[in-house]
Amino acid sequence: MCGIFAYLNYRVPRTRKEIFETLIKGLQRLEYRGYDSAGVAIDGNNNEDKERFIKLVKKRGKVKALEEELYKQDDLDSKADFETHFGIAHTRWATHGVPSAINSHPQRSDKSNEFVVIHNGIITNYKDLRKFLESKGYEFESETDTETIPKLIKYMYDNRESEDTSFSALVERVIQQLEGAFALVFKSIHYPGEAVATRRGSPLLIGVRSKYKLSTDQIPVLYRTCKLINPNVKNMCNSRLKRLDSSTCLHAVGDKAVEFFFASDASAIIEHTNRVIFLEDDDIAAVTDGKLSIHRLERSASDDPSRAIQTLQMELQQIMKGNFSAFMQKEIFEQPESVVNTMRGRVNFESSTVLLGGLKDHLKEIRRCRRLIIIGCGTSYHAAVATRQVLEELTELPVMVELASDFLDRNTPVFRDDVCFFISQSGETADTLMALRYCKERRALTVGITNTVGSSISRETDCGVHINAGPEIGVASTKAYTSQFVSLVMFGLMMSEDRISLQKRRQEIISGLKSLPEMIKEVLSLDEKIHDLALELYKQRSLLVMGRGYNYATCLEGALKIKEITYMHSEGILAGELKHGPLALIDKQMPVIMVIMKDPCFTKCQNALQQVTARQGRPIILCSKEDTESSKFAYKTIELPHTVDCLQGVLSVIPLQLLSFHLAVLRGYDVDFPRNLAKSVTVE
Ligand code: G6P
Repeated sequence: MCGIFAYLNYRVPRTRKEIFETLIKGLQRLEYRGYDSAGVAIDGNNNEDKERFIKLVKKRGKVKALEEELYKQDDLDSKADFETHFGIAHTRWATHGVPSAINSHPQRSDKSNEFVVIHNGIITNYKDLRKFLESKGYEFESETDTETIPKLIKYMYDNRESEDTSFSALVERVIQQLEGAFALVFKSIHYPGEAVATRRGSPLLIGVRSKYKLSTDQIPVLYRTCKLINPNVKNMCNSRLKRLDSSTCLHAVGDKAVEFFFASDASAIIEHTNRVIFLEDDDIAAVTDGKLSIHRLERSASDDPSRAIQTLQMELQQIMKGNFSAFMQKEIFEQPESVVNTMRGRVNFESSTVLLGGLKDHLKEIRRCRRLIIIGCGTSYHAAVATRQVLEELTELPVMVELASDFLDRNTPVFRDDVCFFISQSGETADTLMALRYCKERRALTVGITNTVGSSISRETDCGVHINAGPEIGVASTKAYTSQFVSLVMFGLMMSEDRISLQKRRQEIISGLKSLPEMIKEVLSLDEKIHDLALELYKQRSLLVMGRGYNYATCLEGALKIKEITYMHSEGILAGELKHGPLALIDKQMPVIMVIMKDPCFTKCQNALQQVTARQGRPIILCSKEDTESSKFAYKTIELPHTVDCLQGVLSVIPLQLLSFHLAVLRGYDVDFPRNLAKSVTVE
């Protein structure tokens, strides 16, 4: 999905080459989100030139191609110095209009690039806006919804009442006309060295690097900061924008050198600074003379405007590939540590207790609820399917598992005494976020299970759990799945702490959690064997994955991994449904993987196995090490360590993650950036 990165250096001398490098690096950090074209806007003149202009360079394809294009521009002297400069950059994932240079961002107001803008999200009323602007004589050149935005700001500028209308006042007027979702960053020749950024429904954050050390403890909230440092802050604010008391203003940096980094994702900022501000919907952030101010759109003025500077805990090395050939491979192999990080400080193996700090104050309310509804998309949905049974058992509540898009399509009835869980690695998936807002309107208690601190879902839910799996870059989710799985199991354990009848079961699960990291390592050691299996399978067109009970989710998730990155047809089949259709697909040629574990469904799985072999099927079986029965009928077996039934899915999914990885490599595909897919789907 689209990515935003922008860089403003104020009184920090930088050559144009350094600015290019920062912008390109920023875009590279966002590549994992998936995109098909990229572009930048920078100052075209040199610092001493009187004539100002903005240069746009855009290119279809990879960021690397854009970088090459930048250095080919004869009119851009890469040695030119800029004491102050603002550059904006974007990776686009086509929604309106084909991937092409003209449709990629920045989009511009006119041929002389007076206003340029980068945009994540979708403007739903763009047709009306376009019609209006065309009637006023503005000419459009792209097929995008975004192009209405720079045209609209130019219209506001051309029709401003006063010469000193500020840049942010114009942006405020623009966003009052926009419907849909957006994160936007604006640049203009009329406001050199200034930046304006705003968001509604799409994430955007600002990193600040200055010589001042504004520690979070010292000055926790920007709003107070301004008053503390400059009691006249109110007067400095532009009264037109009605900032007054509700305004926030980071004035601490005074006239000193400062750099600002704008991005849709923290991974693009972390190497420059870990001091960031997450913008909220309808915030308008402006940098003028090196000072950052944030104010609310007028209609939201009653909301609390304080924005704390947060310190990101991410480490750069966490997002680097290391010795692995792909992020996805690295993330699969990180699972012994990532599940430990999920449990760290939460599961006490000595006292057999589990404490999820983000939920403890709401536990009573959750215990009293009518039912649990767990909502997600893709892999996150599968984590809900995987843990449904154990949650029903441990919470003794009805548990509904829902795909966010379908849940919304059905206008599902939700009540005040429901507890709704929203599972999302990114915390930004549009359908999941919409479902969250839907449930909030109906006053249900909302719980977020996300991997991204500061994400929309983690901020908008009443309470939640961070799965702490670390940044996941590969589009195909792997370690987030196992950490979501473990988080949900921990929730079940916490809910059942007082149930005497469940103590034995709890103990068994807690011991299972303890040995999980070692068992994951054991499964990962099968990598070579799985690679050999991939060598046999990679030319096939189809691959069926079959199982039931605790391992049905493994089949769904394994098949999703295979289709996502190998582009093979793959289906996760509930073995109980075999006779109702899928059996017709079975013959000598059709590759079938069967997940058969020593759990309550073992005998039923054996029946399915016999039905498959009776039709000349040649199943590859994922089974427990000590299972001698299944292997008799198998074409091949992958033997896994045995753990408690409800945790077995954490282990059984890993061979399928590895298999999909090897199949994709053998088929020659880019594992981390599968075609047509994005890591974070921020449109419905
Ligand atoms: C996209 C990704 C999937 C992911 C799904 C849900 O489709 O390609 O890998 O499972 O979104 O994402 P979330 O961030 O909400 O878990």
